[in-house]
Amino acid sequence: MTANGNRLPPGPKGLPVLGVSFNLLRDPLELMRTAARLYGDVVRIPVILQSRILLNHPDFIQQVLIFQQGKFHKSVLTKETTGRLLGQGLLISEGDFWRRQRRLAQPAFHRQRINDYAPAMLDCAEMQARKWRGGETRNMAEEMMELTLEAAVRTLFGTTLPGEAQQVGRAMTFLMRYSLRRARSPFQIPAGWPTPKNRRATKEFDFLDSVVYRIIGERKAQGNSQRHTDLLSMLMGAMDEDGTQMTPKQLRDETMTLFLAGHETTALTLSWTWYLLSQNPKAEARLHEELSGVLGGRAPGVADLERLPYLNAVISEVLRMYPPAYIMARTSIAPCTIGGYDFPVGSTILLSQWVMHRDARYYDDPDAFRPERWLGGLAAKLPPGAYFPFGDGPRRCIGQGFALLESGLVIASLAQRFRFELEPGSTVATEPLVTLRPKNGIRMKIHAR
Ligand code: HEM
Repeated sequence: MTANGNRLPPGPKGLPVLGVSFNLLRDPLELMRTAARLYGDVVRIPVILQSRILLNHPDFIQQVLIFQQGKFHKSVLTKETTGRLLGQGLLISEGDFWRRQRRLAQPAFHRQRINDYAPAMLDCAEMQARKWRGGETRNMAEEMMELTLEAAVRTLFGTTLPGEAQQVGRAMTFLMRYSLRRARSPFQIPAGWPTPKNRRATKEFDFLDSVVYRIIGERKAQGNSQRHTDLLSMLMGAMDEDGTQMTPKQLRDETMTLFLAGHETTALTLSWTWYLLSQNPKAEARLHEELSGVLGGRAPGVADLERLPYLNAVISEVLRMYPPAYIMARTSIAPCTIGGYDFPVGSTILLSQWVMHRDARYYDDPDAFRPERWLGGLAAKLPPGAYFPFGDGPRRCIGQGFALLESGLVIASLAQRFRFELEPGSTVATEPLVTLRPKNGIRMKIHAR
């Protein structure tokens, strides 16, 4: 019972606690949508020995991310899932430490600075496309991961990763599955026990660490001179007011965070784009028409993106239907009231882009891919909080501009020259790990246009 007499709504009817948790493990996307459909804007989802509160109203999402954001930290769940990899990097640090690090990193993400990255982004798309032969089938999820990894490493860290992109991709996929399974399970074998999975995890953690430490080492060896203006140089040179620099461990955590956050989500946006276009030939044709009208076959530039409204609508629609960040979790550090319900300290609150972005109260025919819906000014008409692929408030994604620029340029460049057809007979399923991935990738036949 809450202070104002409201009772928290129960979890989905008829499901025993273990049943819910079993389903949550197997199909959290469907479970969250069902919970929202059956119980509305505030739902308690029981999970073994604990419960989580799913908020499904734009106002409540704004309360958590903006108006009462000081009462929340990133959740224990988030920290358990990503903590070993990301340490105290920007994504999960808190308080004054987070504020300082965000201030230090922010200049690298100013619009002008990001626009300077455009040639490198296009070059990476070109390099990837050079490997393709018309008529061959490739896993586009892997292709996009390689492309965006190279772009992130080049632009943010001023270096390259020759030949290692695939290994990085494999390590990340394994670690996401491994960490999430551990975080979701109440019965954990200690990470130090030498089970095959734990041993592989240690190997992959060490591998990613070695890549990141090498990037930092290379830059240090070059003397971090004025010539380097990338993010890594800024972080290495940054001084706090008291004159201290970041410790090697802090630098490692920030670099690892940007290394992962800087490419994985954008790769997913691109992968889901090719998939959705292949399933929606009218939208694909309209995009091709717009690209040839505005660009006429030449490479896109930053200024062109403003003149490609349909391309932007496609990206908005992809981020609506397959938001790479499909859920965000917070733990309350102070008592709070949302939607008339009082939540004690320690409540785990879930906000789901997957659920909100497919809510029929805000989107007509929410499961249909219809980029046109964005052309009539939908973004301005939506209540704030109904669309938040990049989060909101002070913890909003620092890389939003980077991701949108890269997505726009890569799609405009590749879609002019290629069509991607889903391999006949193959199916695509979602795998909600830390991000929303296509299970087993997306196998597509590449056609030169
Ligand atoms: C389509 C691509 C992307 C999506 C959908 C996305 C989504 C998000 C979301 C939802 C958050 C907020 C998480 C929360 O509040 O719990 C976030 C934070 C963050 N993102 Fe992104 N992101 C994308 C691309 C990028 C890129 C390209 C970078 C870096 C180059 C980046 C770096 C970060 C960082 C460092 C944070 C933490 C910010 C903070 O807490 O101060 N992201 N992102």
